[in-house]
Amino acid sequence: MSTTSAQPENLMEAIVSLAKRRGFVFQSSEIYGGLNGFFDYGPLGVELKKNIRDCWWNDMVRRRDDVVGIETSIIMHPKVWQASGHVAGFTDPLVDCKVSKQRYRADQLYFAAVVVEGNTIGYVSVLESERTQEELQEAADKLKRKKAVQGQLAPIVGKDMTEAKPEEIALIPSPATGEPGSLTPPRAFNMMFETYVGALRDESAVSYLRPETAQGMFVDFKNVVDTGRVKLPFGIAQIGKSFRNEITPRNYIFRSREFEQMEMEYFIHEDADWKAAHDGWIEWCRQWLLSIGLPESHLSLYAHPKEKLAFYSKGTVDIMFKYPFGVQELWGIAARGNYDLTQHATASGVPQMFFDEPTKKKFTPHVIEPAVGVDRIFLAVLCSAYAEEEVADEKGNKEKRTVLRLSPRIAPLKMAVFPLLKNKPELVARAEALYKKLKRKYAVFYDETGAIGKRYRRQDEIGTPWCVTIDFETIEKDGSFTLRERDSMQQKRVTEADLFALLDEQIY
Ligand code: GAP
Repeated sequence: MSTTSAQPENLMEAIVSLAKRRGFVFQSSEIYGGLNGFFDYGPLGVELKKNIRDCWWNDMVRRRDDVVGIETSIIMHPKVWQASGHVAGFTDPLVDCKVSKQRYRADQLYFAAVVVEGNTIGYVSVLESERTQEELQEAADKLKRKKAVQGQLAPIVGKDMTEAKPEEIALIPSPATGEPGSLTPPRAFNMMFETYVGALRDESAVSYLRPETAQGMFVDFKNVVDTGRVKLPFGIAQIGKSFRNEITPRNYIFRSREFEQMEMEYFIHEDADWKAAHDGWIEWCRQWLLSIGLPESHLSLYAHPKEKLAFYSKGTVDIMFKYPFGVQELWGIAARGNYDLTQHATASGVPQMFFDEPTKKKFTPHVIEPAVGVDRIFLAVLCSAYAEEEVADEKGNKEKRTVLRLSPRIAPLKMAVFPLLKNKPELVARAEALYKKLKRKYAVFYDETGAIGKRYRRQDEIGTPWCVTIDFETIEKDGSFTLRERDSMQQKRVTEADLFALLDEQIY
């Protein structure tokens, strides 16, 4: 068999379509028209997501001696969010269009003055994309033609709306209407979802859905120290839902309003070499992403510039992923000093100290925080695994196959079991017996309908690494099966013991 493999130009469209068709991701409340920024995970999606979570939990918590896990409540005391700074400062800059009622994140709305021979003839605006600069240029050319102005257009300097001078705001056109005059100056919009706890609906009952899981680890720090027999350095990890009322949720599940985070707070001695600990965790996170199959070529690091860091932050590095819509943050690794514990100690009046036996010192530990979104990993995995191939069989007949090259560690189904023919009871009985045995330990699938080639294709499309076929040789000769590998499409004969050994080695 020969193959040519490629990713389609409209990769996101292909992924969204496959995810819906095969039950990975659905729009939330679809029958009511959907709800922007919310998604559901279907039968295969939920398995893939669970596998991502389980791999992280096993590697981050169970297989380490220095990290413990917790699960804290989604709604916490409102004072938590005052102390953490979220009530005052968890905001994105928002711009309204008073005519269309559209809302934009100011740092995603770009504008430029259109200058011809030293005269500003107007302004153009576009929403941030992979082509922001080109689109601004095109819009400027169009404005110049529309106004029939002769002369040389000055180079276009794109800025985002947070950089607009007050006198420029009224001159910048709204992307919705194309006309100036309707955009408001940027204002801080708090992204926390508010709710009320208890029967009263007044200010005293206001609470928040957590916008990050991290505060749970800080608030429970003392409980873990008092009960967990931990010694520095040690980490507290948590997986759970977080909620942010994003102004512009976009790029499918990349930026949504309800998402899942996997965060770990790694507490270190106040005198420890924080840079070494930070670097160590950046590399750990990178290696972990490679271990679940993300290609190294798609990963890069971005160090936040010093002047953009919060005052308490010693440094933040993001692991970036090359998504089809651009290189974007996947995993943030922040060195946060002892800011969070100090804030909670001050606000609650309960000291958040650690007595370090070896140094006989009592102090507030510093923290390194790797924080990642499950949904973003899920999307990165789909984006890098998806391929469309033209395959030719031995007779030279060509056909298209869609394949998800998922790592066996996270593939929703690990193996599919087929009897060669469904009308041969002895084949079916043997296949069913094997299926039941495999199913006790692994997520496997049984399929007896259609030609074998078709059954392979159905599994390729959902990323099942192996298919095993029970044929006449199984029954009449040595009991061996045909094992077919997804990526190479190679087949070989194996025993039942070989199958279990393969799964045991590859799925961990
Ligand atoms: N405790 C630190 C913290 O929450 P963050 O950079 O705001 O830091 C951490 O979020 C990670 O959570 C991000 O790197 C991203 O993977 C994920 N994330 C954040 N906002 C998200 C959203 N609206 N939708 C999906 N994932 C999101």
